[in-house]
Amino acid sequence: MKENEKNYEDFISTVSHELRTPLTSIRGFAQTMLASWDKLDDENKKKFLKIIEDQSNRLINLVENMLSVTKVSLNKDTVILKEICISGIIETVVQVIKSQYPDKKFEINTDRKTPAILADKDKFTQIITNIIENAAKYGEENSTIKITTNFSGSNNYVSIKVTNTGIGIAEEDYAKIFTKFSRLDSPLTRKVQGSGLGLYITKNLVEKMDGKISVKSIPDKDGQYLTTFEVLMPACDVEKQARAKCNM
Ligand SMILES: Nc1ncnc2c1ncn2[C@@H]1O[C@H](COP(=O)(O)OP(=O)(O)OP(=O)(O)O)[C@@H](O)[C@H]1O
Ligand SMILES: [Mg+2]
Repeated sequence: MKENEKNYEDFISTVSHELRTPLTSIRGFAQTMLASWDKLDDENKKKFLKIIEDQSNRLINLVENMLSVTKVSLNKDTVILKEICISGIIETVVQVIKSQYPDKKFEINTDRKTPAILADKDKFTQIITNIIENAAKYGEENSTIKITTNFSGSNNYVSIKVTNTGIGIAEEDYAKIFTKFSRLDSPLTRKVQGSGLGLYITKNLVEKMDGKISVKSIPDKDGQYLTTFEVLMPACDVEKQARAKCNM
């Protein structure tokens, strides 16, 4: 089989599997609610609706990533660069992910001096969503995810760091996780859903907007690791910033 046919088949089978899991769960909970409406108390109804909402969010992210992967490989991605304030975007993304991972705590430290960045708002949102979602997904139970932003005036980049405690990533896998369909094998990765597309798309989008992305995982206490993903995005120039009047 030709290389691209094999890739295409891999893509279809991964995607079908990934779509089927949340869809089956949405259908199952909807059917249960319809069939047993009178027997269910309000608390259970709410619980089931929450699962339906979470699984729908998961489907939306997945479809978003799948659309991007085709655009990325066909180079049909249009990027609309504008000056955007990142703190509001980070807060919105955290709100959404928090509801999907209620055991996790989130700590956001946005330096007041962080300037606006030059980026496509939707794509930046997708980047941040993928990284924070991973931190919540692969983070230790009940742990805190830290998000910090900084500005390094010397190279004119705004840095966004997302750190979690958890299983970590071995140094020899740093490059691999940014490639298409790559998932690291661990009991946790087998348990949680994922298509292995998130970081591949994230890296492509970051680089398309002249940014950089890197990862570092260092041993923490109790055999856990501190994993940090850092995204560097070009800051807007000072004159533009004054006009943007970005109130952080
Ligand atoms: N914060 C993290 N801690 C530990 N491992 C991670 C972390 N983030 C990513 N990984 C590893 O990198 C792999 C690739 O991540 P990526 O986001 O591309 O895919 P995914 O999360 O498996 O699926 P998707 O994002 O497409 O739903 C993951 O499967 C996981 O093994
Ligand atoms: Mg992911």
